[in-house]
Amino acid sequence: MTPLALELRDVRKRFGSTEIIRGAHLQASPGERLAVIGPNGAGKTTLFNLISGRFGVSSGDILLNGQSIVGLRPFEINRMGLSRSFQITNVFHRLSVFENLRCSVLWSLGYRYSFWRHLPRLADARERAEQILEQIGLTHRRDALAGLLPYAEQRALEIGITVAGGADVILLDEPTAGMSRAESDGAVELIRKVTAGKTLLMVEHDMGVVFGLADRIAVVVYGEVIACDTPARVRSNPAVQEAYLGLHAPAEATA
Ligand SMILES: Nc1ncnc2c1ncn2[C@@H]1O[C@H](COP(=O)(O)OP(=O)(O)O)[C@@H](O)[C@H]1O
Ligand SMILES: [Mg+2]
Repeated sequence: MTPLALELRDVRKRFGSTEIIRGAHLQASPGERLAVIGPNGAGKTTLFNLISGRFGVSSGDILLNGQSIVGLRPFEINRMGLSRSFQITNVFHRLSVFENLRCSVLWSLGYRYSFWRHLPRLADARERAEQILEQIGLTHRRDALAGLLPYAEQRALEIGITVAGGADVILLDEPTAGMSRAESDGAVELIRKVTAGKTLLMVEHDMGVVFGLADRIAVVVYGEVIACDTPARVRSNPAVQEAYLGLHAPAEATA
C-alpha cells in the first residue's frame, strides 16, 4: 500500500505555557490538493512551521511518505521531498529571477556553498531552471532583479522556487495574499500547473480559490483540525459554519 504523503498524529506545540497547536490530526494522500483554512491566529502557519521542521513539536508525530520527520532539520526534511513557501514573500532580492530558480535547483541537486565555481558547467540545473521559468510565465523577466519585480510576479517566482527543487509535497502559505482578483486567478492556474501530480497543502483565505482548487479542505480552529473533508461536506458541516465559514465566506460559499 502506498503510504500517505503526509500525516500528522496528535501534534501539539507549546510556546512557553501556551499551547498553540492542541492535538492536530491530518492526512494527505499522494497527489492530493488540500486547502488549509481557519481564522487568523488559528495556528495554520505554525502547523507549516512544524511540518517543515522550522519548529520542533512539543509532542505527537509527523510522517512524510510514511517516515517520521520529527526532530529533523528543515534541510533534511527538504531533501526527503518537502518544500514550503512563506506567508511573507521570500526571494533573494539581489539575484535575478533566473538565479533565484537556479539556486533552488542546485540545492536540490546536492550542490552546496561552492556551487558558484561550477556554475557555467551545470547544464542540468540551467535547463531545469529554464523550464520552471517558463512554467511560471516569467521567461520575459529572466534577468530582472527579483527585488524589482511587481508583487504578483515575485509571488509567482516564490512558487517557482518552492517547486524547483523537485519536492513532491509542497506547502504554500497564503500564496494569493494581497493580490487582485485577476492576479489571484493567474496564481491559482500557475499553482495548478506547477503542482500537478504533487501533494499540495495551501493556506488560503479566498474561498473562491479554496473551493476551486482543493480536493479536500482542512479547517483549523484554535490549534485543532476540526474538519478535513471534501469542499461540499465542509461547506455543510455545522461546526465549520459556526467556527469559520459563516464569518468569512462569500454568499455563494455558504448557500
Ligand atoms: N514563535 C512563536 N512564539 C510564540 N507564539 C507564536 C509563535 N508563532 C506563532 N505564535 C502564536 O501562535 C498563534 C497562531 O499563529 P499562526 O500559526 O501564525 O496563525 P495563523 O497562521 O493561523 O494565522 C498566534 O496566537 C501566534 O501569536
Ligand atoms: Mg499564517
